[in-house]
Order: sequence, then structure tokens, then C-alpha cells
Amino acid sequence: MATLQLQTVALAVLLLRLTPETPASAQQLSGCPDKCGDISIPYPFGIGASCALDSGFELECNHTNSPPRLIVSTHRQQLTGLSLADGEAIALLNAKRECYNSTYQDFNKNDESTASIMNLTGSTTYRFSAARNRFVALGCPNLGYFIDSTQCYVSGCTSVCRPAHWGSVKLGMCTGVGCCQSKIPPYIDLFEPYMLSFNRGERYTKFYDNTTTCRYVFLVEDKWIEKTYRDYVDYNRTDNFAVPVVLDWAVRSIGNCSAARHNRTGYACRGAHSDCFDIRDSEGYRCRCSKGYQGNPYLDGGCTDIDECRRKDEYPCYGVCRNLPGNYTCECPPETSGDATKKDGCRKKDRFTLALKVVTGISVGVFLSVFMCFWLYLGIQKRKLITTKQTFFEQNGGVLLQHQMCSGGGTGGFRIFSTEELEKATNSFAADRVLGRGGHGIVYKGVLEDKTVVAIKKSKMMEETQTNEFAREMFILSQLNHRNVVKLLGCCLEVEVPMLVYEYVSNGTLYHYIHGKDSKAAESAEALSYMHSSASPPILHGDVKTANILLDDKLNAKVSDFGASKLAPTDEAEIATMVQGTCGYLDPEYIMTCQLTDKSDVYSFSVVLLELLTRKKALYLDGSEESRSLVSSFTKAVKTGCHRELLDSQVRKEMTAEMLKEIVHLLMRGLSMNGEERPTMKEVADRLEMLRRYQQHPWAQAEGSPEENQSLLGMEQWSVNFQYRQQDVLDLEEGSTYMFSL
Ligand SMILES: *[C@@H]1O[C@H](CO)[C@@H](O)[C@H](O)[C@H]1NC(C)=O
Ligand SMILES: *[C@@H]1O[C@H](CO)[C@@H](O)[C@H](O)[C@H]1NC(C)=O
Ligand SMILES: *[C@@H]1O[C@H](CO)[C@@H](O)[C@H](O)[C@H]1NC(C)=O
Ligand SMILES: *[C@@H]1O[C@H](CO)[C@@H](O)[C@H](O)[C@H]1NC(C)=O
Ligand SMILES: *[C@@H]1O[C@H](CO)[C@@H](O)[C@H](O)[C@H]1NC(C)=O
Ligand SMILES: *[C@@H]1O[C@H](CO)[C@@H](O)[C@H](O)[C@H]1NC(C)=O
Ligand SMILES: *[C@@H]1O[C@H](CO)[C@@H](O)[C@H](O)[C@H]1NC(C)=O
Ligand SMILES: *[C@@H]1O[C@H](CO)[C@@H](O)[C@H](O)[C@H]1NC(C)=O
Repeated sequence: MATLQLQTVALAVLLLRLTPETPASAQQLSGCPDKCGDISIPYPFGIGASCALDSGFELECNHTNSPPRLIVSTHRQQLTGLSLADGEAIALLNAKRECYNSTYQDFNKNDESTASIMNLTGSTTYRFSAARNRFVALGCPNLGYFIDSTQCYVSGCTSVCRPAHWGSVKLGMCTGVGCCQSKIPPYIDLFEPYMLSFNRGERYTKFYDNTTTCRYVFLVEDKWIEKTYRDYVDYNRTDNFAVPVVLDWAVRSIGNCSAARHNRTGYACRGAHSDCFDIRDSEGYRCRCSKGYQGNPYLDGGCTDIDECRRKDEYPCYGVCRNLPGNYTCECPPETSGDATKKDGCRKKDRFTLALKVVTGISVGVFLSVFMCFWLYLGIQKRKLITTKQTFFEQNGGVLLQHQMCSGGGTGGFRIFSTEELEKATNSFAADRVLGRGGHGIVYKGVLEDKTVVAIKKSKMMEETQTNEFAREMFILSQLNHRNVVKLLGCCLEVEVPMLVYEYVSNGTLYHYIHGKDSKAAESAEALSYMHSSASPPILHGDVKTANILLDDKLNAKVSDFGASKLAPTDEAEIATMVQGTCGYLDPEYIMTCQLTDKSDVYSFSVVLLELLTRKKALYLDGSEESRSLVSSFTKAVKTGCHRELLDSQVRKEMTAEMLKEIVHLLMRGLSMNGEERPTMKEVADRLEMLRRYQQHPWAQAEGSPEENQSLLGMEQWSVNFQYRQQDVLDLEEGSTYMFSL
């Protein structure tokens, strides 16, 4: 009776443990029984060959017993439960019992010995679970052990007796007194238990004190010991009983999962969302549904989606839950944010959300980075520009010039301009500021910060060798001051070719004003004379022409472009390598010797005078061959004595014959082929000044100052000496070719 009761209790416990795992969906092939009594039979297990995956999974249900018994077809074990998830089967095993017969004076071997053996040899499905089973020897004294299919000892333990008050003293769970247990190794295929018999003699009196009547050995699920002997071990039992043994099952036709995946024909994991996995400590594999799915992975379509939203206890969600195939979303209700899977995880939405914060942060970061890069770039560019400027400044002799300006006393209003100043003054060299263009460069009108109007000459290029002398020339020019010289106010050396800043002369050039009064020529002559004599070394212009004589608002003449001229060579060796100047004004001697002298300027100035008197251009490029050069036409005319015809009608009218004679004499000397025969610039200036006064105040001749009389007397004297000489006259047409470099 007690045996049956205990058995029932054990079964009930097992059933309780296994029933909650009964899933909602089908677990068995259609047409196959899915239960034996209360025990569920999920596929791959099945009653009958056609319902099981293979013969190893085949079961039988014996309905002659009540409740019906589930039996493993191949090995005849009785099963009390099956679990797909755990991969376990619970088999029922009778404990081996031996009870002492005091009459017989020995243990009587019970007749249920065969039922206490569990034979899994050759099974393709079941193995003893090493993890979940314990070998137990109960009663004392007892030495229990078991052997496997190779007839070798596998494991065992000894339980001893103590003269204690059994029952009242808590001795703990099965730890050696009255009961012992041991773990078992894996890969066991047969369980055959034994108990060692002791020879009861005088020596072992103590050992045999307080013995139990019966002793047992069996293999049992670990939890059974914990439950049954939790508080108190009933060592002194005499009944027959069965215990649950945990069996691991797996598909073992193929050694492992990855190999099974490659042979789909025998692959047990069917349908979508199912996959195989390797099992511990043994060959074979089992199947399971993918995450988010549940059901029977061994059946086609056996894995179905878990509706997580309906299982709040497993998948907590305190917000809006939405089920997805294989997954679910749990979000906070609208207008709130946070973690909806936690209680009170959702809070009123912060308008400045984390995403927005991140975006803002990144934006600001990116902006700052870009700004920094740009700033650095600008810095580098500016540095480069400054370096370039400094290089040009040094190249152009800026340091030398600064040094000279410091040591050479007053700067005379001359200063070194920066590029920025000039750009500002000319509105970044705007096209509408251009005053004139020439072969040398462009002249811009500029307004400085102090409202001074200036003319800025931006040259096209400059020779390397010139740059060294440039600073010196600048310095000397800056020291000079004459009302008829266009004043050089400063220069800018921070560019490749230095820019020159001149005072602005408002009324155009003499060239443009050629119909005006010739008297201006006297002022120009004075200026040239000043430049020749006042500076040391003397400053030569080198390019005297009407286009270079400017007129201010009071029509005062101002000689311009001194900055572009060369210094007169003080050394014999210093000879210009290039002839520069303007056709029609060039000193023939200069062309031949390449040496610019103050007399070259005298020649050029004489051409200017001639232009003024005749109101004709120095060179007519479109005229007939004979009248192409004004100088040659004039000298020819003088030879034939009909030069008066050439003169401008107004000049003829206003000039007395005497004055004309004087001026023609001056001109012929100035235009002489031989530089030495030409008058100095000073002489030219003085004579022109005298002629001017004489023309303005003819009465002064009578009552004027002695000086003036002297001058006029001198003038008379020249006219006496005046005579024409063939070689004085330059005939440009006759043969010579000239090289010009402009
Ligand atoms: C069913 O169980 C009874 C009694 O335990 C036994 O006699 C009978 O042979 C069993 N039937 C099968 C098919 O195993
Ligand atoms: C003890 O053994 C004797 C002799 O074999 C037997 O007659 C007797 O029934 C046994 N007693 C018990 C309780 O088994
Ligand atoms: C165990 O079963 C196998 C075959 O199922 C058999 O050959 C072997 O003899 C059995 N062993 C025992 C001890 O019953
Ligand atoms: C075991 O139980 C029997 C009777 O059920 C009793 O006579 C015996 O003294 C007990 N032995 C121990 C060690 O408790
Ligand atoms: C244990 O054995 C001793 C000696 O044989 C005996 O005196 C004692 O009463 C026994 N105790 C129990 C609980 O049987
Ligand atoms: C799986 O088994 C195959 C042969 O059965 C073997 O070659 C392979 O190494 C095994 N893989 C693993 C991971 O054990
Ligand atoms: C695939 O498995 C089946 C049954 O398990 C077997 O008969 C067949 O030989 C296997 N094929 C390969 C290629 O391993
Ligand atoms: C399921 O959704 C969660 C978040 O809702 C996500 O973290 C997880 O990666 C998803 N799992 C699958 C398999 O899609």
C-alpha cells in the first residue's frame, strides 16, 4: 500500500512540474495520440512507428493499467513525463532492496531485482542525465555501487549507523549517516546496482549497532532527494518503492547540429523559426524555436509567434504594447517618454528631447569645428600673405629705404604705404578709378584716408637688377621738392612690382593741352633743370614728352614719371643695358651709346618745345615718309629757311621775329646730334624764363632790372653766334634703324 502511495505522490509531483509546459498549439502530428493518460506525448515522440520521428522515439501506452502506463518501445522503461524544452524524460525505476531475516540470519534477496536495472544500451534517443541524477544508498550499514554495460564498477557510496536518536535528530540530507549519495559520470548506458554484504563478526560490533532492517540502492533525480529528505530522512523503511530517473533525450542519428543542418533529409528541426543546437556531454542535437517564437520546433509550422503583449508577467509593458512577428514593441503613450517596460517609466515629454539635444549638440559641435577650421585657414592665409608681403618688401629694398629714411633726417612727407591703404584708396583698384594706361602700367586715382587725392602708378613689371637701386632712387626722389615736379608722396613695396604714389594733378597732360599756352614749357624746363642740378647724383628723366608733363587746376606744368627714370650713372661702368624712352623724343646719341645723360633730357625737351611751337605731334606714324618725324621736317625747313611756315598760326602771330629767331636757335642747339653741343637744362630754363617775361612785359626791356637786361643782352649775343651746321641736324629718315625697348 505504502509503495503505491509513494509512487502516486512522486508521479503527482512530476505531473505538476510538467503540466504547465503544455503549450497551446498542437504538439503532435495530426492523427497521432498526444496523450497517454495524463502524460502529454509531443512529437518527435509518438505512440506507434508512424507517429514517432524514428524508432528511438517510439512509445507504447498500456491501457490495461490504470492510469495507463507509458513505455519506451525499444527498452521497456516506464516514462512518467516528457519535456521538449528541457530535453528530458522521466523514467520510473524500482529501488533495489535487501532486508535482514533474523530467522534466516541473512538478507533475503528480493525478487524485484530485475526491475531495479535500467538498460539503455544501444538506445539512439536516451542517456542517463549525469547532471540531474544521483546514486543513493539508503539504510545502514550499507555499501552500494553500480556497474555499466562493460561490467566495470562505475560509482558507489557507504552509509553508516550511529547510536543516535534517529528521527528526533536532524542529520541533514543523505550525507553518509543512514543514507549516502554520489554523482554519476556521463555516457552511462546501463545501471545495474549492488550492495556489499558484510561479515558480521565480533570485530565489527560497533558497525552493526543500531542497524536498519532493510537497505536500498537506486538512481534518482536530484530533486527527489531534496524534497523527500529535506527535513528528515526515513532511513528505517522496509517497503518497496519506485523512484524517478531523469533521462536526456536527443536526435542522435547525426553527431552534431552543424552536420545535421547540412543534411536536410534527416533534419529534425522543421519549418521556419526553428533551429538546432548541440547538447552538452553527449553526441546529437535538439531543436528549439527562434527567439520570440514558441511551440514545437520538430513540427512543420510548429513555431508560432509569441504574443508578448498578452504575457505581461514575462514581458512587462506599462505603455502601448504592439506585437510583431518574433518581437514586440512597448512604447510610452503619446506626449510621454521614457522606458515603458518599467513601472512608472513613462514621464511627460520634455520638448527638448534627447534626440534634439544630441542633434543640437552635434550641430553646435560641427559648426564650431567648421568655424575653427575656417578661422585657422584664414589665419594661415593671412600669415602667408604677410610673409609674401614681407618678402616683397625686403626684395624691393624696403628695409634699406626705411633705414635711409630714419638716418637721412626728414622724410619730406614721403612715406611707405601698405597694400591695404592703397586698396582702400582706389576701391580695390576699381576700373572706374583708372586715370590712364600705358606700356609701363596703369595709373589709378586714389583718395587717402586724410582725403588727399593721389595718383597711384601700378607698374606691370620690373627687372630684378633694378630693385636694388629702386630704394635708393625712391629715397632721393622723396627728398626733392619742386613746384613743377609731380611730387612722389610714397610707395608701396609689399607687392612684386612696387607701386608709386604721386600727388594728383588735375588738368591732364600737356599733350592734351597742346593748344594752350606754350609758356608752360618754361616751367617744365625749370623742373628738369632742377632735377638735373639739385640732386647728387643727378636725376635724369629719360622719358621727357608732352604726355609726361601734367597740368594742375591753375595750368601749372608738372613733370611726372620721375619715379620710373634711372639715376644718372656715377660710374663709367654703369651703362644701361636697355634703351628706354618714346619714339620721336629719343636722343640719337643715347640710341647709339646706350648711355643716358642729362643732355638726353635736353634733346627730348627740345622736341617738346618744338611740339608746342608747331602744335604738331613728334611723330606722325600715318604721315608720308618725309614728314613723319617732326624733328627731321623742322630741321629741313630751317635749312631751307621756310621753318616759319611750320609754326602754329597763333605762335606766328604772337611772337616777334626776334623771339622766334632766339627760340629756333635754342631748339637747333637742343636738337644737336652731339650731346656736348646741346645747352644744359639750366640754360634752357633760364632762356625760356627770360623769353616768357619778355613776351609778357615787353616794356620791361626798357626800364627792367639790370639782371633782365643782362639776360636780354645775353640773348642778343646768342643770336649773333647762331649759324646752321649740316651735322647739327638729325635726319631720322636717312638710314639708321633704332632698337627700342619700351
Ligand atoms: C499491459 O500491462 C499488463 C499488466 O501490467 C500486462 O499484462 C500486458 O502484457 C501489458 N501489455 C502490453 C502490450 O505490454
Ligand atoms: C525468514 O526466512 C525463513 C526461512 O527461509 C522464512 O521462512 C521466513 O518467512 C522469513 N521471514 C521473513 C519476514 O521474510
Ligand atoms: C541490455 O540490453 C541489450 C540490448 O537491448 C542487451 O543486449 C543486454 O544484454 C542488456 N543487458 C542487460 C544487463 O540486461
Ligand atoms: C526500525 O523499525 C523497527 C520497527 O518498525 C524497530 O523495531 C526498530 O528498532 C527500528 N530501528 C531503528 C534503528 O530505529
Ligand atoms: C543502539 O545500540 C546500542 C548497543 O547495541 C543500544 O544500547 C541502543 O539502545 C541502540 N539504540 C537504538 C535507538 O536502538
Ligand atoms: C560535427 O560532426 C561532424 C561529423 O559528424 C564533424 O566533422 C564536425 O567536426 C562536428 N562539428 C562539431 C562542432 O563538433
Ligand atoms: C542524410 O540523413 C539520412 C537519414 O538520417 C541518411 O540516410 C543519409 O545518408 C544522409 N545523407 C548524407 C549525405 O549524410
Ligand atoms: C526586438 O525588439 C527589441 C526592442 O523592441 C530589440 O532590442 C531586439 O533586437 C528585437 N529583436 C529581434 C529579434 O528583432
